[in-house]
Amino acid sequence: MNKTVLITGGAGFIASHCAALLLQHNYRVKALDNLDAQIHGSDRCPPSYLDRRVELVVGDVRSPRAVSRALVDVDYVLHLAARVGVGQSMYEMADYTDVNGRGTALLLEAMVERAKKRPFERLVVASSMSIYGEGMYRAADGRLVPDAERNSRQLKRAIWDPVDEAGQTLEPVPTPEGKPPSTRSVYALSKYDQERLCLMVGDAYDIPTVALRFFNVYGPHQALSNPYSGVLAIFASRLMNDRPPLIFEDGEQRRDFVYVDDVAEACRLALLNDAAVGKALNIGSGSPVTVKEAARLLADTLGVSIEPEITGECRVGDVRHCFPDIREARDALGYRPRTTLAAGLRKLVRWLDGRVAIDRVSEARAALASRGLTL
Ligand SMILES: NC(=O)c1ccc[n+]([C@@H]2O[C@H](COP(=O)([O-])OP(=O)(O)OC[C@H]3O[C@@H](n4cnc5c(N)ncnc54)[C@H](O)[C@@H]3O)[C@@H](O)[C@H]2O)c1
Repeated sequence: MNKTVLITGGAGFIASHCAALLLQHNYRVKALDNLDAQIHGSDRCPPSYLDRRVELVVGDVRSPRAVSRALVDVDYVLHLAARVGVGQSMYEMADYTDVNGRGTALLLEAMVERAKKRPFERLVVASSMSIYGEGMYRAADGRLVPDAERNSRQLKRAIWDPVDEAGQTLEPVPTPEGKPPSTRSVYALSKYDQERLCLMVGDAYDIPTVALRFFNVYGPHQALSNPYSGVLAIFASRLMNDRPPLIFEDGEQRRDFVYVDDVAEACRLALLNDAAVGKALNIGSGSPVTVKEAARLLADTLGVSIEPEITGECRVGDVRHCFPDIREARDALGYRPRTTLAAGLRKLVRWLDGRVAIDRVSEARAALASRGLTL
């Protein structure tokens, strides 16, 4: 009998790639998804990119009935359902907290009930790089600085990099899992909540649980007309409408863009490897770039000569640099990211061909500005 995986948020971007990979590996795949209009459009149809063999239960993670129905016959749970968007979470606070926090708690209650009759082999939860806030830094004297922060006074003067007590710029270094979290948005706090809830309840009830802290995931199927999450999808949507990507600060902020197939493989490995149980692991490409470099590479790959527009603005809660140390995922999971940014962008651009992207960036920018969430 094939083992069954339930993917919550199973109609979403990352989930669709996980489903395809798991089907290839002969798992049966179920999905629970409420087809959120921000991602799937107002007609809320199941997305055409979702493999037809996926058994979709349309329902909300906050509905105990829908969750119990979805959990029937399930061996593994991959919990990806979430509201996703840093800026938007700063004004849709109740909804982000409700879906991500309470939704996870209700899923766990249902899993604990079901586990009394038949245990689960694994729970894997999608956590996020956002929980770190600023990444790890090194001071000029070699000392590691895990608690770098930027204050609004320095940001108003366009001093973008975190500095030490003497005003010296700190050097960003790969962030290990041991760096204490410093949540700087409601989204980040809700992701940390999800991660901790799953690891804590998993431990208490013997549900082997793994949390994966995804960095900036990109690739085909990412919602193109959602201006609240997915920086490369947002840039693509601008470029496809002959407009420049808008980049906050000076564009030199460093991120790790990880191709979605590598993330799907990390999820598959997390279902199997006992060495990962109880851990929260960074999942990135291991090769950071600046946001400006990523925007330029995307424009080149699309074959358009549009330079990004550097706004010099800063969003409340944004971090300067954060990119992962992925050694622990390598050791515990055997995780080896395979797709370079150049190769991943080529795949993304092939998928973009012939697609329509509605550019809603101005709307999202105005929503932040009107609330005083940009400096
Ligand atoms: N994309 C990234 O760069 C990234 C980075 C870090 C973490 N993550 C995490 O990975 C997971 C998947 O992200 P994604 O980028 O694929 O997002 P996505 O928005 O494409 O997928 C999320 C899915 O969850 C569904 N959903 C939302 N609310 C729901 C609810 N109440 N009940 C049931 N389903 C609901 C949506 O309809 C959507 O299909 C999320 O947990 C996200 O926080 C993503």
